[in-house]
Amino acid sequence: MVERVITGISGLDEILNGGIPRRNIVLLSGGPGTGKSILGQQYLYNGLLRGEPGILVVLEEHPVQVRISMSQFGWDVRAYEEKNVFAIVDAFTAGIGEAAKREKYVVRDPGDFQILLDVLRDAIKDVNAERTVVDSVSTLYITKPAMARSMVLQLKKILSGMACTSLLISQVSVTERGFGGPGVEHAADGIIRLDLDEVEGELKRSIIVWKMRGTSHSMKRHPFVITNRGIEIKAVETIKIGESA
Ligand SMILES: Nc1ncnc2c1ncn2[C@@H]1O[C@H](COP(=O)(O)OP(=O)(O)O)[C@@H](O)[C@H]1O
Ligand SMILES: [Mg+2]
Repeated sequence: MVERVITGISGLDEILNGGIPRRNIVLLSGGPGTGKSILGQQYLYNGLLRGEPGILVVLEEHPVQVRISMSQFGWDVRAYEEKNVFAIVDAFTAGIGEAAKREKYVVRDPGDFQILLDVLRDAIKDVNAERTVVDSVSTLYITKPAMARSMVLQLKKILSGMACTSLLISQVSVTERGFGGPGVEHAADGIIRLDLDEVEGELKRSIIVWKMRGTSHSMKRHPFVITNRGIEIKAVETIKIGESA
């Protein structure tokens, strides 16, 4: 029996036949506005509710803004940060600004991947993290695409080695069919793709599990919605979109 991490996201565990196999590194891929950050944050918060500590690495948004965004869904992480079971790794501010000075885990040079890995390792150890989300890995290698696969493999070695079950958020352009970067897809244990497609004059959200090592899973495209309580996947429904993806 494969050990699984229960995402707690409505419908997601069902389409994964019980959750994400433990220690898997999952590429969470999608275009802008498809719900990647929200899904990642919800995955971490649900972990906290289950007593599973987590780490959120932010490369694109100020940690202060991330806490505010999360609290708008009712996911208030401050108490968990105080209890040392949750941490945000700030790979955004480089420690610049008043607010950044209050952050506990700051990557002083976000351009230096090895420093980021060191801070990440410390944070995982400190909170005993079982779940990690990196938002986003694309930012790491946007200026050095040739490094993408190697960076993901280094992350995988650390995250999986430290027993974390992880989501690596990967940005793709609106029209792109892939999952974000040469070779990255092959390094990941799993690939979940979120999509936003115009169907009869309306944007429809859908999710598809492309790959998940260690388990069978739904092979269907499922519709989902985002509400002020987060993501809700319709596991019993399927959706057909146009020619894309
Ligand atoms: N409270 C909410 N209710 C419904 N939809 C929301 C809410 N908050 C955000 N959204 C939707 O989520 C989208 C942003 O999701 P996000 O996870 O940030 O996307 P990304 O894939 O770019 O990380 C917004 O464009 C909006 O459509
Ligand atoms: Mg995002």
